[in-house]
Amino acid sequence: MVAAMSSLRIGPVTDDATLEDWRLVHNAVVPDAAMSTDEARERVGRYLLEVAYDGDVLVGCTTVRPPEAGGGASTVIVRVLPQWRGRGLGSALYERAMRQAAEQAPDAVETVVWAANTAGVRFAEARGFAEVDRYEPEPGAVPYLTLRRPSA
Ligand SMILES: CC(C)(COP(=O)(O)OP(=O)(O)OC[C@H]1O[C@@H](n2cnc3c(N)ncnc32)[C@H](O)[C@@H]1OP(=O)(O)O)[C@@H](O)C(=O)NCCC(=O)NCCS
Repeated sequence: MVAAMSSLRIGPVTDDATLEDWRLVHNAVVPDAAMSTDEARERVGRYLLEVAYDGDVLVGCTTVRPPEAGGGASTVIVRVLPQWRGRGLGSALYERAMRQAAEQAPDAVETVVWAANTAGVRFAEARGFAEVDRYEPEPGAVPYLTLRRPSA
C-alpha cells in the first residue's frame, strides 16, 4: 500500500484540464448523474473540487461542500475509479477531505452515495456515517443516500 501511495498527488481543480479530469471521475462513478462541463465549472467557485493522480494517472476526485450560511453540515464525497480501488487511495482522499471540511467548522459532516455504489455505502458506514435521508430521482430508480456523522 505504501508503494502504491508513494506517488499519490492530490490538488485542486485549477484549469480546464483538471476540471475535465474531475468530471471524468465523477461521471464514471455516478453515470446516473453525469455532469456537463458547464455544470462542473459552475461548482468550482462554490465547492472545493480536487483531483488525484498516481504519478500521471488519474485515479480519483473529491468534493467538499461548505455548510449553508448560518450553519449546517459540510458535505464530503470521495470517488476512486473502480480499477484503482482497494489499495488505500479512498482512505487517503477521505482523510484529506475531512481535514478540509473541519476547517469549515460544520455542525456535522454528510456524504451522498448513489446506492448502486455498494462499496461506497460500506466505506461511509465504516467511518461512522449513518443514513439520514434518501432521494429517488424518479419512482423505482436507484436512490441517492445522504449519510451523516459528527464532524470530529
Ligand atoms: C468509497 C471509495 C471511494 C473507496 O475507495 P478505495 O480506494 O477502494 O478505498 P480504500 O482502498 O481506502 O478502502 C476501501 C476498502 O478496502 C480496504 N483496503 C484498504 N487498503 C487495502 C489494501 N491495500 N488491500 C485490500 N483492501 C484494502 C479498506 O479496509 C476498505 O474497506 P471498507 O470500505 O470496508 O472500509 C470507492 O469505492 C468509490 O469511489 N465508490 C463510489 C463513490 C462513493 O460511493 N463515494 C462515497 C463515499 S464518501
